[in-house]
Amino acid sequence: MDIKDIKNRAEKDIKSAQNINDLDKVFQKYLGKKGQLTQVLHLLKDLPEEEKKKTGKIANQFKKEFLIKTENQKKNFSDTDSYNPKSEWIDVTLPGKKISTGHLNPITQVKREVEDIFERLGFSVVEGPEVESEKYNFDALNIPKNHPARDMWDTFWIKYQEKEKLLLRTHTSPVQIRYMEKHNPPLRIVAPGRVFRYEATDASHEINFYHIEGLMIDKNISIANFKAIIERFFQMFFKKSVKIRLRPSYFPFTEPSFEVDIGCLVCGGKGCSVCSQRGWLEMAGAGMVHPKVFKAVKLNPKNWQGFAFGLGLDRLTMMKYKIDDVRLLYGGDLKFLQQF
Ligand code: PHE
Repeated sequence: MDIKDIKNRAEKDIKSAQNINDLDKVFQKYLGKKGQLTQVLHLLKDLPEEEKKKTGKIANQFKKEFLIKTENQKKNFSDTDSYNPKSEWIDVTLPGKKISTGHLNPITQVKREVEDIFERLGFSVVEGPEVESEKYNFDALNIPKNHPARDMWDTFWIKYQEKEKLLLRTHTSPVQIRYMEKHNPPLRIVAPGRVFRYEATDASHEINFYHIEGLMIDKNISIANFKAIIERFFQMFFKKSVKIRLRPSYFPFTEPSFEVDIGCLVCGGKGCSVCSQRGWLEMAGAGMVHPKVFKAVKLNPKNWQGFAFGLGLDRLTMMKYKIDDVRLLYGGDLKFLQQF
């Protein structure tokens, strides 16, 4: 092999290159994987020591010069010399790729709407923990240990115990206690959130669902105030006039207690399958705050009165969108969810 020969040819080739593409070919010819100079450099290791030194020096010097010369030649070409409009043409009129975005679950949409309505009625939105202590979920709400009233709530107890027994809250009523411990009346709050019950699932029962708790405390609050607020709320939520009815009921933390029914929105009160021919639908539990609850938060029941209520957000969502199975809301089926 004659390095000088290769060197002369390489120099000529560099000079005669007309553009970047030509120059790239020259580079490949000499320094590419199978380039002539590359091969020389590869063979060096097999040469006797003396020869290796001598030829190695020349070959490496040649490589250096070759790189400098190609670099210099490159400067003679402008960037567009290798521009090939056919291969780089972009069709700017092609429609773009759609970026798919998610959206809020219907329960979350309803939750935000309900919060918004109560805010307009003068209530603040507050929250409490989903893992609760026995004290807040039961004791302070006048549901003592071993009292049969506890059977109204099928509870998930948490095995890990510190000083207090912990559980997944069965309702949002504990937030009433937490709030009244820290804030003096008069007050108006709603507390939305997730609640849990240990029960078998079916079309109208889930092991977790959403409640919104309401609480209004002042000097002269009566059931009439509650009726006015809740009626106004249903009208604003369903965007039509809604009939309501209070039915006597029992909750340990309110006295008197009642269930709130609304006239069935599907049949207008005549009776249909949605309301089981009753013409009415149960929407909330409510009542006047029990004196024992005031005592638990160190307020004097002689000075303060108020009402509390618990509305099911799942049920409101089902009524609003006419959904007949609560499990659909938690199933994650996109075909269902994308309708909202
Ligand atoms: N916490 C009750 C329930 O879980 C609902 C309720 C709230 C009733 C406030 C009265 C007052 O069913």
